[in-house]
Amino acid sequence: MDKQTRVGLIGAGLIGKEHAKYLGIASGVELAAIADPTPAAQSLAEELGVPHFSDYEALLDSGLVDAVIVALPNVMHADATTSAVARGIVVLVEKPIADSLEDGRRILEAAEAASVPVLVGHQRRYAPDIAAAKAFIEEGGLGTIVSVAMLSTWRKPDEYFEVEWRRRVGGGPVLINLIHDIDVMRYLVGDIDSVTAMGSSAIRGFEVADTGGALFRFSNGAIGTASFSDAAASPWNWDLTSGSGAYFPPPPPGDAYFISGTKASIALPSLTVYEHEEGNHWQVPIRTRTLERRDTNPYIAQLEHLAAVVRGEAEPVISARDGFRSLAVAVAVDQSLATSPAVKVEK
Ligand SMILES: NC(=O)c1ccc[n+]([C@@H]2O[C@H](COP(=O)([O-])OP(=O)(O)OC[C@H]3O[C@@H](n4cnc5c(N)ncnc54)[C@H](O)[C@@H]3O)[C@@H](O)[C@H]2O)c1
Repeated sequence: MDKQTRVGLIGAGLIGKEHAKYLGIASGVELAAIADPTPAAQSLAEELGVPHFSDYEALLDSGLVDAVIVALPNVMHADATTSAVARGIVVLVEKPIADSLEDGRRILEAAEAASVPVLVGHQRRYAPDIAAAKAFIEEGGLGTIVSVAMLSTWRKPDEYFEVEWRRRVGGGPVLINLIHDIDVMRYLVGDIDSVTAMGSSAIRGFEVADTGGALFRFSNGAIGTASFSDAAASPWNWDLTSGSGAYFPPPPPGDAYFISGTKASIALPSLTVYEHEEGNHWQVPIRTRTLERRDTNPYIAQLEHLAAVVRGEAEPVISARDGFRSLAVAVAVDQSLATSPAVKVEK
């Protein structure tokens, strides 16, 4: 049995607690310490029998960890990640890699200069439906992809927004949620060259939009659309419909992504493939089939991959550079929301 990779958890809030749980299940890793100043984090560390630190710098200096997970508010990612990198400690930083391009670049440059792996927590890339769709697309199953529609609409409870950073620029549904969808589409379809978007704060009234729509031009000519909201009582988002989210109820039926190619189309996470019975003609009936998938928990797969990277057996599936590219698209969406490029309709 390989030596366990000792992982320190920096930030034990909503997702940090999930990582603590999965560290107890995944192979090749163990939770070694927690850094988070709250009494709740101290109790969690006691319950799990690991050392607790109020200051993450002390955890990084403790010699107790081979890797850390940075699960702090977005604005704190760059300082914590670069501190770990400076000590040669491998980092899994939650998405977004940072809340600004400047901070994202700071991480990217530090990681590459020091040759210390930094992985970005876009766990959907380890999910079974995304993996099966990726293989199908690479085999040419869709032909040339022409169009992508992403739905990312759900109802977050009001208490979720008692945590201030989620209401402010640097938080919000684009950097917290839509960036996952953007990352999946970059992975499945290709890189994105330009975006335009429109947003509304009509329901929650925060400085970040609660609802919006965005349009993406991919480098290969495909066009994507995204509809997103954290104020809509809706199942149409990947976390809920896939059943692979960390803290959600059993999945309702439905899909979140619709990818159309010249030969066939696919809906995810159900992995339903739609294709004409013969030829490619809109009047020929369409038949459906469902692709097979493995049964994998993406958060556990992500931790097992982290351990493989620490052992030097794998390169990061989502490197700092790759995470930075997804951040750049999300920042462009936020920029477009702020500048409202819309053409006013004559009244
Ligand atoms: N991949 C996913 O599925 C997923 C899901 C949710 C959140 N996230 C990301 O994870 C990050 C955390 O989100 P969250 O919703 O868990 O936030 P949260 O606010 O619930 O938790 C953040 C934690 O950081 C702690 N903290 C603050 N300052 C600290 C410091 N100086 N040292 C140590 N700990 C400190 C807080 O006490 C809190 O417990 C964000 O970047 C978010 O985008 C990812």
